[in-house]
This record gives sequence, C-alpha cells and structure tokens, in this order.
Amino acid sequence: MRIARTPDDLRLQLAALPRPRVLVPTMGALHDGHLALVHRARKAAGPDGTVAVSIFVNPIQFDRPGDLAAYPKPLEDDLAKCQAAGVDLVFAPEAGAMYFPDRSVTVTESLLSKHLCGATRPGHFDGVCTVVLKLFNLFQADAAVFGEKDVQQLAILRRMVRDLDVPVEIIGHPTVREPDGLAMSSRNVRLTPEHRADAPRIRRALEGARSLLQFGERSAAPFLAAARKHLEDSPFLRIDYLELVDAETLQPVGPIKRPAVLATAVFYGDVRLIDHVTLLP
Ligand code: PAJ
Repeated sequence: MRIARTPDDLRLQLAALPRPRVLVPTMGALHDGHLALVHRARKAAGPDGTVAVSIFVNPIQFDRPGDLAAYPKPLEDDLAKCQAAGVDLVFAPEAGAMYFPDRSVTVTESLLSKHLCGATRPGHFDGVCTVVLKLFNLFQADAAVFGEKDVQQLAILRRMVRDLDVPVEIIGHPTVREPDGLAMSSRNVRLTPEHRADAPRIRRALEGARSLLQFGERSAAPFLAAARKHLEDSPFLRIDYLELVDAETLQPVGPIKRPAVLATAVFYGDVRLIDHVTLLP
C-alpha cells in the first residue's frame, strides 16, 4: 500500500496506478462503516483498478474549534485497517498541506444545506463541498463512494457534481449498523454505557414512524409525532432536530408524494448522533 503525505507526492504516486480510480474520502478514525465503503470502492474499481482513501480532518467544515481539536487521529491504526482492506493508496496530508493561508475561493451551497444538520452548523457543508471538490481534483477520480448515513452530505455532493459538471460518479452506500441497529459512528465510543444502551431507540423511533406508511398515512404530522414521542420517552437524549424533508431537495414536505427522508439528530450529553429513514409514497 502506498502512502502520500503531500499533494505533489500524491500526483506522483497516482501516475503509477491503473484506472479506474475510486476514492473514499474520510476523516480517519476508521470503523466498519468506512471499511464497507472501501469494499464498495473495490467492487467499482475491479481487481485491477485503484482504490484510494483520503484521511484528512478538514478544519473548514468544523464550526466549533473544540470539536476539531478533540477529533481522534489514530493514523497508525487507520493505515493498518486500510492495508488489511486492500486499499492501494492512502492520502493523509498534514493540516497545512491542503489550504493556502490566503485562500479566497470556496464552494457555496445555498438550498439543500438550509435544513437538518445545516440549520445549526453554518458553513459546514460549504467546507465539505470545498474539500471534496479539492480531493476530486487532486485525485482526478473516476468515482467516489460516500455513506448514506450522512444523507444530507450525500445529497449536497450529488448536487455539487450536477451543478458544477464535476466528472466524478458519486456512489452511495447504505448505512452500516451495530447488531442492535445503532448506526456506526466514530462518536459511539464516547457514549456512556447507559446512553449506549438507550441509543438504538433512535433507529426504532424512525422505523416505527415509517410503519405508518402501511396504514396509508401520507401527511407529515403523524410521522413526526410518532418519532418524537418515541425519542422523548428516553430519559437521556435531547432532540437537536427531527424533520421530514424531500429526499432530493431536502426541503420540508407536507403530504408525502415523492421519496422523503425522516431525519433526526439527537444529543446524549455532548455526543451528537444522526440517523434517518427513507419514506417511499
Ligand atoms: P467521515 O465522517 O470520516 O465519513 C467518511 C465517510 O464514511 C462518509 O461518506 C460517511 O457517510 C461514511 N460513513 C460513516 N459512518 C458510516 C456508516 N455507519 N455506514 C456507512 N457509511 C458511513 O463524512 C466525512 O468524513 C467528511 O465530511 C468528508 C466527506 C470526508 C469530507 O471531509
């Protein structure tokens, strides 16, 4: 497995590797959810193509400096996991290697980032778009794999590629879960045992609300009420948001006529977890 630490080094190493070239962008602290994306990338690249992983804790997508400072950086572990998963090349730039100190051009998204996570994290998705576009340009990737877990991120990146004619195929991969249904996240290890035991209710609340579809329910309020009730039964969690939005535009919907997403973010202490279900009319 090759490792590049600077953009120049990356370009040099890529020149020796065959196409197609499939990229999995990450911020490291890799778990089985990330590794599932790597396996999906191998399927897309084929046995002779190149699977690349980037590990970069992108400072411009963090709205709270404490959050950025606390982000885990187990690089040696991550490299070992990549090696075991059959990755061909890891790009792990130093913080200073990606941005010019006087940079003045960024990508701005002005519609899909208004609700859900974007509502309380101003600038977050502009930071994500900017770094992902830079990674696409650096890698000259043919395709890139992202998790459906971050449903808003995936929708916004699909929109960026569409609106800016970026020649990269975006591949979405379903959320990988713990056996009890909790979506895998590098934040799960920060939950107290009590909170960890309670957290599968997030998934159950969303699935429970979705089951109303079977009874012919299509208006938004009952879905939101059912999920809210189940979440609020927890003595531990605090709801950050619970919203029903159109799956493509991520704008709030009234009656469900097109695919919609019921999405939530909750806090257990200072640990923020997200999950969603898709509702098909
Ligand atoms: P990060 O949080 O490290 O996630 C990297 C990729 O792994 C994302 O595409 C995310 O959706 C996916 N992922 C995380 N947990 C998952 C799970 N349980 N199941 C399936 N996929 C999962 O998302 C980012 O980094 C950054 O915003 C990034 C895109 C790298 C830009 O900096």
